[in-house]
Amino acid sequence: MRRYAAWADRVADLQARGRRRQLRTLTPTGPVTGELDGREVVVACSNDYLGLAWREEVRAAATGGGSGASRLIAGDRPVHHQLEDAVEAWLGRPATLFTSGYHANLGLLGAILGRDSRVASDALNHASIIDGLRLSRAQRLVVPHAAPDQIPADVDAVVVEGLYSMDGDVPDLGGYPGARGEGPLLIVDEAHAIGCLGPDGQGAAAAQDLVPDVRIGTFGKALGAHGAFVEGPPELRELLVNAARTFIFTTGPAEPVAAMALAGLTLMRREPELRERLAANARRLRSGLADLGWEVLGEAHIVPVVVGPDVMALDARLQDAGIFAAGIRPPTVPAGTERIRFTVSAAHTDDQLDRILDVLGPRR
Ligand SMILES: Cc1ncc(COP(=O)(O)O)c(C=O)c1O
Repeated sequence: MRRYAAWADRVADLQARGRRRQLRTLTPTGPVTGELDGREVVVACSNDYLGLAWREEVRAAATGGGSGASRLIAGDRPVHHQLEDAVEAWLGRPATLFTSGYHANLGLLGAILGRDSRVASDALNHASIIDGLRLSRAQRLVVPHAAPDQIPADVDAVVVEGLYSMDGDVPDLGGYPGARGEGPLLIVDEAHAIGCLGPDGQGAAAAQDLVPDVRIGTFGKALGAHGAFVEGPPELRELLVNAARTFIFTTGPAEPVAAMALAGLTLMRREPELRERLAANARRLRSGLADLGWEVLGEAHIVPVVVGPDVMALDARLQDAGIFAAGIRPPTVPAGTERIRFTVSAAHTDDQLDRILDVLGPRR
């Protein structure tokens, strides 16, 4: 319709530039298998790193209803506090729930930063950090990726990720100013590291024996549920409840979701062998890919294989062979570094990982 032609034109433009994205509906049949376009596939691009989303304990925990209002109105529930207390017991400081990691970053950064703040943000930070900094109106300095020595001395805060979602690398967090409690605030988004790295799955900072000023973690990835938390000093918790717009002006997390997150967190802590299995699986896939001559980035359970502009052809070839591993294109990653981003799960079997290697074959 003419009224909406501009919207259709934009999508047509994306299509012409090979950048149109489309939904692909997966019907899970197991922790790392599912039906995609009528065929059974091995899923190698989910962030359910420990296979907890499929576990009966997590699914059965989903009871209760929607919370019906902001937590500050009539939407605060006992399960929200149980989950926040469980995070505090695990990580050591008060936690505040958000409905997603995206909301957590928007709410946190908007609450603690303002026009007068100068913030260093890693060039590869996630969109939720970029958007949170924009909304905060802070002065942003985009700093080179994982280069702590290039942070100007006079910033008020530094925002980095514990494990980078598109490059699979863990920065030297201890090298950042602020890492030892002096200088700028160090804010670490542990979305992909929580549950997977560090003692007791506490993340990349804990693995480096650090407690950053603020940690963001998600329940929707390794913990098999949905939602997120921000963890930091007691002063932060009170500020977030009073000033984080994505905490105040949104409905509190639904009870089933918070209960699933609590079950996922409990299982993750009870079964450290899941983390060992995840690391072993990541090593197996990484070394197999390297032996075949593929360029593999990073070091952990996110295994990005750089392919280049024809990445979607490889994506299709993998899918034809029963492997679901999404191709990642600009603007998510820079042009020329298009990649297949394999994500490993503790639930993958050796056979499934070897199948991925067989389908890829030697790099030509
Ligand atoms: C580093 C990082 N932070 C935050 C998020 C957003 O988390 P959520 O999916 O819970 O909104 C993601 C999502 O992929 C992420 O990679």
